[in-house]
Amino acid sequence: MNDYNTFRAVVAGTGAYLPEKILTNQDLEKSLDTTDAWITERTGIRERRIASEEESASIMAAHAGKIALVDGGIDPEELDLIIVATSSPDVLFPSTACFVQKELNAVGSAAYDISAVCSGFIFALSVAEQYLKVGRYKNILIIGSEVNSRIVDWTDRSTCILFGDGAGALLLKRGEQESPLGILSTHIYSDGNLSDLICVPGGIGRTGINKQDIDAKKYFINMSGNATFKVAVKRMTSVIREALEFNHLSMGEVELLIPHQANQRIVSAVAERLQYPMEKVFMNIHKYGNTSGASIPIGIDEAKRSGRIQEGDISVLGAVGAGLTWGSAVIKW
Ligand code: UT7
Repeated sequence: MNDYNTFRAVVAGTGAYLPEKILTNQDLEKSLDTTDAWITERTGIRERRIASEEESASIMAAHAGKIALVDGGIDPEELDLIIVATSSPDVLFPSTACFVQKELNAVGSAAYDISAVCSGFIFALSVAEQYLKVGRYKNILIIGSEVNSRIVDWTDRSTCILFGDGAGALLLKRGEQESPLGILSTHIYSDGNLSDLICVPGGIGRTGINKQDIDAKKYFINMSGNATFKVAVKRMTSVIREALEFNHLSMGEVELLIPHQANQRIVSAVAERLQYPMEKVFMNIHKYGNTSGASIPIGIDEAKRSGRIQEGDISVLGAVGAGLTWGSAVIKW
């Protein structure tokens, strides 16, 4: 702790938005060489949500953000900052956050995006935490929003079965340092040496959009699934352990683990290494698939609204994503 940590970041509201359209494993069986049994067994996913033509990352983010603002009891004009974590932005620029600001009519706030893919929401939380702790801002809306369905190759059975669309939001407020509640810690990391593991290889800024890359499907997600799986288990486990040590906590004191919903088997392996019971791990991957940067805030919102998070509880968040990026956070509610 240093002298600048005068305040604390407190969660004041949550919200989530999922598109109505459901795509089941049975639906995928009709267009791909796959089976419901393979997908369920290897990933835990049974269905995922798919954005309609009218829905984009900013539209879904604005829906989730509005719910979080109502939940937190503030008007959009009171926001100081909006951060959107997305790897499927509406356009290259302006930022998706600027479109969200317009949609919310949050005049007076700053707005920008963060790009850390599946870890993006924890990166956004970490940035917002710093502004609030030093007293720079009072109210920050952080949102994870993804339209993965538009950046997957629907003929690639090893990736398209995994991903889904959706958005989740947290309203963070500046609280007093003496308050025992709020964000207790965030830890974030990146390793660009592992950038090839999961990426969208077509470089708009690197090569320009060209027919050769379009034909080679380079503007879609490309993933070395197996290698990513192994790294994900290791990094998520270690960064959660680091968060526990930092806060002098044991997993026994954690009421709920809310992990990025990458794959049921990745999460089970992490829980096993932490010797943490799966009954205390929040999972919704069966309904939504991997919603990348949106999965953790959607999980938080569902856990809160279903009563799985109670006042005074401690929750741990953990994520790994393309970059490679990874991070954890501890929240006392
Ligand atoms: O959000 C963070 C980023 N993403 C992740 O964390 C994802 C991490 N990786 C994974 O979740 C898993 O690696 C996958 C679910 C993507 C794949 O599961 P896996 O157990 O690692 O399978 P695999 O890649 O080793 O493939 C095993 C077999 C292969 O066939 P052969 O070579 O053994 O004949 C694949 O071609 O399964 C085949 N396969 C499929 N079969 C039926 C791959 N995808 C499918 C499919 N349906 N959808």
